[in-house]
Amino acid sequence: MARAFAERGANIALVDLDSKRLEQATEVLQLDESRVLTCCADTTDFASLESSAALTTGKFGGINVVCANAGVTGFLGPLEQGTNEDWNWIVDVNIKGTVNTIQATLPSLMKNAGDGHVVLTASISGLRVHKPGRGQGMYNTTKFAVVGFGEALSLDLEPYGIGVSILCPGVVKTDFSNAGKYRQEKFGGPHKESRDDFVLAKASASGTDPLVFGRWVIRAIELNQLIVVTHPDDRDQVAARHQRIMQAFDDSAKLESGPDMLQGSGTGS
Ligand SMILES: NC(=O)c1ccc[n+]([C@@H]2O[C@H](COP(=O)([O-])OP(=O)(O)OC[C@H]3O[C@@H](n4cnc5c(N)ncnc54)[C@H](O)[C@@H]3O)[C@@H](O)[C@H]2O)c1
Repeated sequence: MARAFAERGANIALVDLDSKRLEQATEVLQLDESRVLTCCADTTDFASLESSAALTTGKFGGINVVCANAGVTGFLGPLEQGTNEDWNWIVDVNIKGTVNTIQATLPSLMKNAGDGHVVLTASISGLRVHKPGRGQGMYNTTKFAVVGFGEALSLDLEPYGIGVSILCPGVVKTDFSNAGKYRQEKFGGPHKESRDDFVLAKASASGTDPLVFGRWVIRAIELNQLIVVTHPDDRDQVAARHQRIMQAFDDSAKLESGPDMLQGSGTGS
């Protein structure tokens, strides 16, 4: 996304936990140093994001587009095998980290009312739980939350002319299957990939070129698309989910008709 924005002449502030990745990204961008800023920050640490936002506005005079993109795959496997530590890490990074990023940058974005845009990276996993299961229950939970946050945020920011786009991609060729190496000490420290990570690694190797994806994101901003679907593969699964929800509305009438349903069952459920 940074490369795609740079192609369009934007100044870029890169914010990441990993200083090496910041260096690599800066090299790839090949921008004059007046156009790029790097800030080492942890999205689970609000103060570090506030400092990054201050550095960015100090250097560039303001913020027009915020991409809340940092995220991790977290624990992969059946939910009953996940630990409290696993939950803390993925919830803090994928949900709280996304919220923190927006909260820390909103004051600056609001100054550009009418010309601002928020981009939240959710996932296709924020629109459906894959059937059969892929051991992504924790990831699904957090990405559904990002979609909900984005929808609420878009309503609240609309009066200010600030658009919101929620990215719901399929597989993009990145390093995301190695997210375990970024696990902070406070969440248990780095952990090794599991067998499931390996499956993901194979999938990500054949994913969309990130630069192509970044260009799609810019087009989505121009079109002010709220939900951004870039990969059509799971359309049927999303449609089936919506169908189940509509069916639940139709089934609501049944709830009124049968107190005797529970009578005599003895389960108290
Ligand atoms: N790659 C895909 O196929 C795919 C698909 C759907 C959604 N996503 C989402 O895209 C986003 C970006 O992931 P990616 O695919 O580029 O993976 P990636 O692992 O290559 O990049 C994630 C980046 O986030 C950084 N990061 C992790 N935790 C952080 C924290 N707490 N604070 C600051 N930086 C942190 C990492 O250092 C890394 O540079 C994530 O939200 C991911 O869930 C990716």
